Amino acid sequence: AIDIRSLRQETGYITFDPGFGNTGTCRSAITYMDGEKGILRYRGIPIEQLAEHSTFVETAFLLITGQLPTREELTRTSVYLNDFSPLHENMKAFYQNYPPKAHPMGILSAMVNAMRSFYPELIDLEEEMNKTYLRLISKIRTMAAMAYRISLGERVVYPRPDLCYCANFLNMMFDSVVVPYHVDDDLVRALNVFWILHADHEQNCSTTAVRVVGSGKVNIYSTISAGISALWGPLHGGANQAVVNMLEDIHKKGLTIKDCIAKAKDKTDPFRLMGFGHRVYKTYDPRAKIMKKMGDIILSKIKRKDPLLDIAQRLEEAALKDSYFKEKNLYPNVDFYSGIVLRAMGIPTNMFTVMFAIGRLPGWIAQWKEDVSDPEMKISRPRQIYTGHQERGYIPIDDRE
Ligand code: ACO
Repeated sequence: AIDIRSLRQETGYITFDPGFGNTGTCRSAITYMDGEKGILRYRGIPIEQLAEHSTFVETAFLLITGQLPTREELTRTSVYLNDFSPLHENMKAFYQNYPPKAHPMGILSAMVNAMRSFYPELIDLEEEMNKTYLRLISKIRTMAAMAYRISLGERVVYPRPDLCYCANFLNMMFDSVVVPYHVDDDLVRALNVFWILHADHEQNCSTTAVRVVGSGKVNIYSTISAGISALWGPLHGGANQAVVNMLEDIHKKGLTIKDCIAKAKDKTDPFRLMGFGHRVYKTYDPRAKIMKKMGDIILSKIKRKDPLLDIAQRLEEAALKDSYFKEKNLYPNVDFYSGIVLRAMGIPTNMFTVMFAIGRLPGWIAQWKEDVSDPEMKISRPRQIYTGHQERGYIPIDDRE
C-alpha cells in the first residue's frame, strides 16, 4: 500500500508521499508504462516490437527525438558515434590513478562528470539530435570498456570504425593480441536487445535524480553523472549484480529453494529475493519475459549450461506459487534474468550495472531534454514534515552535561 497523507503544518497542507509512489513530478511524452497490465512503450512503440526489430542506436534516436530515424539520419548518427568514440588523451590518464579494485560505476560517474571540462560547449535545445548527446552515447561505451581493460591490467582496445555500436563494445572489451575476438552476430543482437530493454523506464530513481539535478540548470554531463550514481544502488540498477551474487551464493552454499523463499518472507531477515518486485509493475515485467527468452537463446547458442539459470528458474517457479509473493504482487523484474544474459556474453559481474548505465543513457538524455525544454518545469524543491525540536536556546560548551 502506498503511504500518502496530507499533513497540516504551520505553513499549510503538505502531501507526505515517501518514495514519491503517488506523485507525478512532470508531464512526459517519452515512455508509457501500465504496471497492472505489464505494458511498456517508448514513444508509443511496444517494447516487444523494438526488441524484435530495432537496434540500440535506432531506439536511442527514437527516445531522444521522438521519431524513428530515416535511413539518412541513422547513417549520420552512426558516423558521429564513430567520430566521437576516442577519449581525450588527458582523460585516459585519470584511469591510472584509481585503486585496482575500484568499482567501474564510481569510475564511470567521475569520468562523465569530467567531460564537462573537456567539452564545455553549450547545447542548442532546438536541435533534436545534438552532438553533445551523441558524444555522450559514444564516449560512455569507450569509457566503460577502458575501465574494464585497465582493471585487468590489459592494453586498451580502441574503437573500430567498421563495427556497429554493440559489436564495437564487445570488441573493445574482449579483443586480445593472443586470441583475436570474433564478433558473433547473435551476441551482438543480444546486446542490442539488452540495451533496448534498459533504454528508458519513465520516472525511476536514477531518472528522477537526472530531472532533479538538471532542474537546477547544471550542465548535462554532471546531470548524467548524478543519474549514474543513483543507478549504482542494489535496489535499483545494482540489482542485476545482486541477483547473480545471490544465485552464486545459493549455488555455492547448496541452499534449497524452499529455504530461500522462507528467508525472503521472514521479516526479521533483511534478505530479499533480488530481481523480484517492482514499484510500478504488479505483474510480470514485460522486459523480464524478453530477457528470459534471450537467456535461453544465448545459452543454447554458446552450448553452455549455466547452473545459475536453473536455480533462477526454480526460484521463479516456487515464488510464483507462493501466497506471500502472490499477495504482494512480486514478480520477476528485468534484473532477474539480465545477469544470466550478461554472463553468457562474458561480461564480468562488476560490470553489470555499467551495462545498465550505458543502456539507460538515451532515456536520461531524453528526460533531461524534455525537462529543461518545458517552460512549466521549475527547480525541484520538495517540502518536508518537520519532526525535530521546537525552538530551544544555544548552550555554551562548558554548561553541557
Ligand atoms: N523479496 C521479498 N519481499 C519483498 C521483495 C523481495 N524482492 N520486494 C518487496 N517485498 C515485500 C516488502 O518486504 C514489503 O512487504 P510488507 O508490505 O510486508 O512490508 C512489500 O513487498 C512491498 O515492498 P516495498 O519495498 O515497500 O516496495 P517498493 O515499491 O518500495 O520497492 C523494490 C520496490 C525496491 C523493487 C523492491 O521490490 C525490492 O527491493 N526488490 C528487490 C531489489 C530489486 O530487484 N530491484 C530492482 C528493481 S527494477 C530496476 O531498478 C531495474
